[in-house]
Amino acid sequence: MPKPLLFSFLFLSLSLLSHATILTLSQQFKEAPQFYNSPDCPSITDTNTNNKNNKNNNNNVICYDGAVHVAMTLDTQYIRGSMAAILSVLQHSSCPENNIFHFVTTATANASLLRATLSTSFPYLKFQIYPFDDTHVSGLISTSIRSALDCPLNYARSYLPNVLPSCVRRVVYLDSDLVLVDDIAKLAATPLGGDDTVLAAPEYCNANFTSYFTLTFWSNPSLSLTFANRKPCYFNTGVMVIDLDRWRAGDYTKKIEEWMELQKRMRIYQLGSLPPFLLVFAGKIAPVDHKWNQHGLGGDNFRGLCRDLHPGPVSLLHWSGKGKPWARLDANRPCPLDALWAPYDLLQTPFALDS
Ligand SMILES: *[C@@H]1O[C@H](CO)[C@@H](O)[C@H](O)[C@H]1NC(C)=O
Ligand SMILES: *[C@@H]1O[C@H](CO)[C@@H](O)[C@H](O)[C@H]1NC(C)=O
Repeated sequence: MPKPLLFSFLFLSLSLLSHATILTLSQQFKEAPQFYNSPDCPSITDTNTNNKNNKNNNNNVICYDGAVHVAMTLDTQYIRGSMAAILSVLQHSSCPENNIFHFVTTATANASLLRATLSTSFPYLKFQIYPFDDTHVSGLISTSIRSALDCPLNYARSYLPNVLPSCVRRVVYLDSDLVLVDDIAKLAATPLGGDDTVLAAPEYCNANFTSYFTLTFWSNPSLSLTFANRKPCYFNTGVMVIDLDRWRAGDYTKKIEEWMELQKRMRIYQLGSLPPFLLVFAGKIAPVDHKWNQHGLGGDNFRGLCRDLHPGPVSLLHWSGKGKPWARLDANRPCPLDALWAPYDLLQTPFALDS
């Protein structure tokens, strides 16, 4: 009786699928401990005078001078990772109360639900949520080989200078699949040097830079000349220190969009949101110690093999790549280093009996 069997299998898969979706949306998170500034922390002051007249429009934070501003995206799919990342930032900050978080979500996300979720786990967190209208960027995205990389929210990092208020002048952008084990203030204080350096990130000059672009790109001198007089190196866009003033002044969002428009007409690169960043910034960024992005812990994109740390010290662990530690832990098939993510997991498991 193959038919009924097939039907019940289909039915079972469908009901499992919808069950999983409901679970994702109803994840409950524990409250994190409260973290306090150490006595020698600088006091942060609200320098935006407009804000003072504006106290009741729910604009509870934001324009503090001397604060460490952190930007992340926030969506239901990665929220468990985001919560762990936030906890790790606070826990390793010597001045945790001076961190201000800026969360970019899709315009269709339920912002009040996200706000409530954040406030439940982090009642003292200074944060703001920004809906990102991704219809514009959706039109610019060409299909790439890994469709997950083409989620419009992945491109939100290119729009931070427009999305964040102009009083925020420097920001640390962080992906949601990482944890810090060092003070983010040290990363935020990275010197950018010369007037036209817009961002800082760890650079990897041994990576094969050629492979990020197509033959069409390299064989067209009017395109490949963009790298003339530069020593372009690969960098990962999951951890960046961005000077928002300089970005705004140079209108770099426009420059990134121009490459994306070109990509739609002729395929000049493969993977999603990274190559436009490389086209605009590679060889022009300020270096950051590699310990601030121990990336690739998500493992091999094809076979899901576990990856080890790169040699040297560690300030930030980044599960970039296909596998995510929460998914592997849930599946009872963790990689060894996933044990370093687990202590930051705030998910309230249904079976945990908190006393
Ligand atoms: C958003 O979430 C809140 C719970 O915080 C819920 O009451 C509300 O109905 C949700 N809105 C939408 C449009 O789903
Ligand atoms: C770098 O990548 C390109 C294109 O993928 C390839 O042709 C070239 O041989 C690689 N170079 C090295 C040194 O591996």
